[in-house]
Amino acid sequence: MKRILSGIQPSGALHLGNYLGMMRPAIELAKQGEAFYFIADLHALTTLHDAEALRRYSYNVALDFLACGLDPEKTCLFRQSAIPKVPLLTWILSTVTPMGLLERCHSYKDKTARGFASSHALFAYPVLMAADILIYDSDIVPVGKDQKQHLEVTRDIAIKMNETFGSIFKLPEASIREDAALVPGTDGAKMSKSYGNTIEIFDTEKSMRKKIMAMVTDSTPVEAPKNPDTSSIYNLYRLFASEGEAAEMAKKFRTGGTGYGAFKKQLFSTVWEYFEPMRKKRAELESAPDYVETILRRSAEKANTLAESVMARVEKAVGLRS
Ligand code: ADP
Ligand code: TRP
Repeated sequence: MKRILSGIQPSGALHLGNYLGMMRPAIELAKQGEAFYFIADLHALTTLHDAEALRRYSYNVALDFLACGLDPEKTCLFRQSAIPKVPLLTWILSTVTPMGLLERCHSYKDKTARGFASSHALFAYPVLMAADILIYDSDIVPVGKDQKQHLEVTRDIAIKMNETFGSIFKLPEASIREDAALVPGTDGAKMSKSYGNTIEIFDTEKSMRKKIMAMVTDSTPVEAPKNPDTSSIYNLYRLFASEGEAAEMAKKFRTGGTGYGAFKKQLFSTVWEYFEPMRKKRAELESAPDYVETILRRSAEKANTLAESVMARVEKAVGLRS
């Protein structure tokens, strides 16, 4: 059976891009193997220095995943920081990671360009991510397209370790859903917490409607034909609607006679209805914090057992254990 692993940073409320690019495919994939999904709180610390917010966001990611259909009986869901061997493996991997490999990574450059303070942790972020992946002997890693480079770095580091110390790690593969690789935000650019263009999964009805109705469009008049393929309204809609419904909207775009406002209303009601059962589930979970903590603790125990066994092999290979 394939081992599937992924993580998501608790650096804010999760949005439709996170859901379509990572959560939905990860929850689907979990049905086909043994899955380990974690809340990347150590990664979030690279950009978030507010203890109360980090605690709240971490817990909310757990609620969101469970509400969106992750089955806690079959899948492990835990906090990254609950696995103490991860930082040890990060250090070991760092000792074979060439500086040039990290210097080529986009995420450090992007984040410092967006105003985040440059730090050793932000620069070494991909090494921590490699440790996350390699410590569970992972086969498949479902992520959005923006994480592709980090998977390549992980494989490079694993190869370097194997060359240096003998065969220790298997090489993981990224699993990227091309249809939801880059979900557009309300301004048409990639939806991202850092761009302020997000639509949160569990937003209030009023606020979600407002964000969708304010989506940026061009000034094509109501009666004129429009191109669905370049429209973020259509590109979001098709990811939630059935094939038939998506084809119908595409046809209306091309025919003309329908304004963007009407398409936005249709997008809002489809998205709002899509998440209705998940909102119910989330409300139930919110009133059962002990249940959620039990899942996180139980999953961490299982993840730790696996991490310990892989680390016994690693520590022996590098000479930290006999
Ligand atoms: P953000 O850019 O909002 O900070 P993260 O970097 O925390 O999001 O991403 C968490 C996961 O969600 C990653 O696997 C990432 O690839 C995916 N993801 C984030 N935004 C999008 C998007 N707009 N389209 C597709 N996937 C996305
Ligand atoms: N860097 C990922 C992101 O920003 C989160 C992450 C941390 C992750 N460790 C991971 C994803 C390991 C997959 C595997 O979304």
